[in-house]
Parts: sequence; C-alpha cells; structure tokens
Amino acid sequence: MAARTHTLSRLRPSPRKSPFRLKNFPRSNASTQKYRPAYHIGWQRGLSSEVPPIRVLAIAGSLRKDSVNKALVRAAIQVAPPGVIVEDFGDLDGIPLFNEDIEKEMPEKVKSLKAKIAAADAILIATPEYNNSVPGVLKNAIDWASRPMGDNSFEDKPVAIMSGGGHTGGFRAQLHLRHVFVYLNMHPVNKPQVAITNAKTKLNASGEFTDPAIRGSVRQLLVALDVWTRRLKKG
Ligand SMILES: Cc1cc2nc3c(=O)[nH]c(=O)nc-3n(C[C@H](O)[C@H](O)[C@H](O)COP(=O)(O)O)c2cc1C
Repeated sequence: MAARTHTLSRLRPSPRKSPFRLKNFPRSNASTQKYRPAYHIGWQRGLSSEVPPIRVLAIAGSLRKDSVNKALVRAAIQVAPPGVIVEDFGDLDGIPLFNEDIEKEMPEKVKSLKAKIAAADAILIATPEYNNSVPGVLKNAIDWASRPMGDNSFEDKPVAIMSGGGHTGGFRAQLHLRHVFVYLNMHPVNKPQVAITNAKTKLNASGEFTDPAIRGSVRQLLVALDVWTRRLKKG
C-alpha cells in the first residue's frame, strides 16, 4: 500500500498550475497519470544526451546513523531523472560550532563543503524538523558556508528542500529554511513540497525508502529542480 505523504495531492497533474507545465504536453495523459514521468518532461524540453547534466549537491541535516533524511538523499541519488547527477555531501559531523573568531582559519571540512557547494549547479537539502525549526547542525553548516563575508558559497544557487519528520513532516523547518534562503540569495523550488510525515515508520527493514509514492515525490522534486536550474541558467 502506498504510504501517505503531504506531497501526493501536490503531485497530481494540474496542467494549468504546474510550475513545470510544458507546451504540447499531451493533456489527455494527465488524468490517467499519478504523477508525470520525468522522461516526458526531459523529452518535452528537448533535452538530449548532448545536454550537459546538472550537478546537485545533497546535504542531509541530521547526524543520526539511521537518519530518514540521509535515506531521502540516498533515494534521490537512485531516482534522479536523466540529466541530473546527485552527489551526497555526506555527514556534517566534524564541522565545529561557528565562531566568527575562527572563521579565517577555516576547518578542512568547511573548505570542502564550500568547494562542493560552489561547484554544484544546485543544492538539495533533506532536513528533519527540530522544535518547529531547522536543526542546529544544519543551520551551523549553512552559517559556515555563507562566510566569510563576501564569500557566500550559496550565492545565487537554486535549491530544493525535502524533509523527513515526525507528525508534521517538517513543513515548518522548510518554511524557516526558505526564510534563511532570502538572506543567502538562493532560489528555492516552490513545488512539489516533499515532507514525509512519521518518516521513520516508512523505511523498510534495511533503512531505505522503497514506497513508490515517496520515491516518486523525490523524483518529481528533482525534475522541478532541474527545470528551475536550467531556466535560471538561461537568464
Ligand atoms: C530535538 C528534536 C525535536 C523534534 N521536533 C520535531 C518537530 O518539531 N516536528 C516534527 O515533526 N518532528 C520533530 N522531531 C522528530 C524528528 O523530526 C524525527 O525524529 C526525524 O526522524 C529526525 O530526522 P532524522 O531521522 O533524519 O534524524 C524532533 C526530534 C528531535 C530529536
């Protein structure tokens, strides 16, 4: 049985409202599809194998070994549509608490984070919600990568958010992140909103998301990020 997520109603095709609606998309298909297959979108946009892929850096905002948000990143790598390469930054462990006094002697891990962000075409964040907001571990990493002043690695980057949370699915953490993105001058994808409620109960015995509805919503988010990134690059 398909797991319920907050995203599903958003994923049903809405030819007039979809942010990635494409001219000439065969509307007759829309009513029979649960979500629009990504390869149709790539094809409709005229993407071919000669079009360079976009590189997406994925950052999970949890240090927990069995983190559902780390599992969301793994799912993203597996379901990425053609033309999208997702790289997992890996554990944020080892990034010290930000202190302006030491920002000039930047720790190696922060240097690596900043370099990977700078090299990426877009960012994908998978985050839990802690006490209605963004976990300190993630906010701390964001603060480091935004410094020193004048060298904000996130400047002008497209970004997509997904969250695996408790009963709320992490929506409020997502909203708080969007607030942070304004200061960072990032460009968030608005929809689909991927927020997995009671996410721990939706992992399989190996700690992976296998539910097609969840994997489909992650894929649709990457499709939207791909479309958005290419649109921004065109200027
Ligand atoms: C300190 C703390 C605060 C939490 N606050 C919330 C919350 O505000 N809303 C929510 O939906 N879940 C909340 N949770 C539950 C987590 O979102 C949930 O455990 C999630 O699976 C953690 O993500 P992870 O598996 O990637 O570590 C909280 C958990 C902790 C440890």
